[in-house]
Amino acid sequence: GGEAYVTDYDFSFEGPFGSFDQAQLQRGLQVYTEVCSACHGLQYVPIRTLSDESGPGLPADQVRAYAAQNFFVIDQETGEERPATPTDNFPANVALGAPDLSLMAKARAGFHGPYGLGLNQLFKGMGGAEYIASLLSGYTGETREEAGAILYENVAYGGYLSMGPPLYGDDVVYADGTEATIEQQAKDVAAFLMWTAEPKLMARKEAGFVGVLFLVVLSVLLYLTNKKIWAPIK
Ligand code: HEM
Repeated sequence: GGEAYVTDYDFSFEGPFGSFDQAQLQRGLQVYTEVCSACHGLQYVPIRTLSDESGPGLPADQVRAYAAQNFFVIDQETGEERPATPTDNFPANVALGAPDLSLMAKARAGFHGPYGLGLNQLFKGMGGAEYIASLLSGYTGETREEAGAILYENVAYGGYLSMGPPLYGDDVVYADGTEATIEQQAKDVAAFLMWTAEPKLMARKEAGFVGVLFLVVLSVLLYLTNKKIWAPIK
């Protein structure tokens, strides 16, 4: 591929104190369910985690209904197909050769350089979610046929890929009244996929903050202790 262009979207989970926007995760889940799941699986994501407080935070009865209404799985014990329950993972979907999306937001980077120093990544973050959002809104409309397959040009991909544009605008109707533009849906599903790839992001940031706070307090105490110990000698 050629040069790739990724938009530096603002996401609520960015920065040292960023956190997931629960309403956005719920909208993203809807886009995944109604559009992406036709081709892509989420095989590493347990359906029950949809009720996590630091995730979409859906009530348990809604998660049960969601699982049963949207997915069929092969029962491990009987070997027969049955409606999914919250204890199942989202199914895999390998029918069309589309990659699993569970960890995609961590498998791709949106920002690189300059000159391989990773400075953009230091300032803007890795950009996995930005990459996904840019990919979904980055189609130029150009296509090309290769070995009988149609490939679609995409500026975020930096070339041609075999996924056609999955979003056209108003692909879903949001319950919260948010307008379902291509970009809105793209950002929502990208945020949702950031959560599937890193469900403990908020806990990690909190632990990091507590750790830094602890080290600051410890440094002050050690500094004062050091002063006191050496006071008689100086
Ligand atoms: C690839 C996301 C819908 C088929 C991908 C990739 C992402 C992605 C992130 C990886 C691109 C890369 O390698 O960097 C999504 C999302 C969707 C969606 C978020 C929903 C909004 C669909 C649909 C189909 C599809 C509906 C099938 C009709 C594929 C295929 C690939 C792919 C075949 C492999 C492309 C290649 O490597 O050339 N998708 N996708 N996707 N997707 Fe989708």
